[in-house]
Amino acid sequence: MIEVKNIKKSFGDKTVIQDVSAVMKSGQCNLIIGSSGSGKTVLMKCIVGLFEPDAGQVLYHGQDFTAMNSDEKTEVRKEIGMLFQGSALFDSLTVEQNIMFPLSMFTKWTTKKKLDRVNEVLTRVNLTGVNKKFPAELSGGMKKRVALARAIVLNPKYLFCDEPNSGLDPQTSLVIDKLIQEITIEYNITTVINTHDMNSVMEIGNYILYMYQGNKEWEGTNREIIFSKNERLNEFIFASQFLQDAKDMRMLEESGKISNDRNMDELMDKDAPSLIPPPDE
Ligand SMILES: Nc1ncnc2c1ncn2[C@@H]1O[C@H](COP(=O)(O)OP(=O)(O)OP(=O)(O)O)[C@@H](O)[C@H]1O
Ligand SMILES: [Mg+2]
Repeated sequence: MIEVKNIKKSFGDKTVIQDVSAVMKSGQCNLIIGSSGSGKTVLMKCIVGLFEPDAGQVLYHGQDFTAMNSDEKTEVRKEIGMLFQGSALFDSLTVEQNIMFPLSMFTKWTTKKKLDRVNEVLTRVNLTGVNKKFPAELSGGMKKRVALARAIVLNPKYLFCDEPNSGLDPQTSLVIDKLIQEITIEYNITTVINTHDMNSVMEIGNYILYMYQGNKEWEGTNREIIFSKNERLNEFIFASQFLQDAKDMRMLEESGKISNDRNMDELMDKDAPSLIPPPDE
């Protein structure tokens, strides 16, 4: 679990993160969404420690990361995997060498043990046998999977993905999302994902933090987002008329299910939408 408490970050006199708090649980995909420039990457970098926040705390499993000395921070960093925007593979290294890189940096394993682990994670991302290929020989989706394999090679407790779907077609994006979700659940990882992708929000958003101009404007689950009356959030997520209609349809569907569960009040913002029919007696 990661707890973010009252994080603030400015560059010069420009405040980029206002006062953001969040709880990101293990075994789930925690999404940071918001328009370009809203502060997603800066917030993620504050959480990982690539930026020092001006105020606030980041707790990893209850331990205050912001108060740690550099040796203690290094210990936490060993448990963090990162999937960078654009994959950030080393072009001059093969797939195998790319994935082996963190193992060589952080372990004293034998070459045989490292190779076994490389093959294990390559199989996990459904890319068996591409060991000797160079990044330039791979498609965008394959590169993301190699980058994901590298991010999980040290068995991280925390996985950070900055725009994992950028530059991918919708279907490949779904494959990557599902893979990240499966890995998150399988290894009980606390996964934090920056995304613009509406499909990701609906498919894997266990927890969603919506950033607007450096503030936390809304938080909730992918089911709650359907019922949210937050205008800025709705304009951002359901930008087109088509998506607005899809949201209305989904609300009707969900309201049927939910009214049967008698959980509707919990999910809806105040002022329930009039679209929802009364529950059947
Ligand atoms: N190193 C920096 N120095 C100064 N300003 C910065 C720095 N990094 C980010 N910013 C500013 O902080 C704001 C938020 O940037 P950030 O990269 O977090 O946005 P984002 O939500 O990730 O956007 P995108 O969706 O385009 O990736 C922007 O106004 C940006 O110009
Ligand atoms: Mg960004």
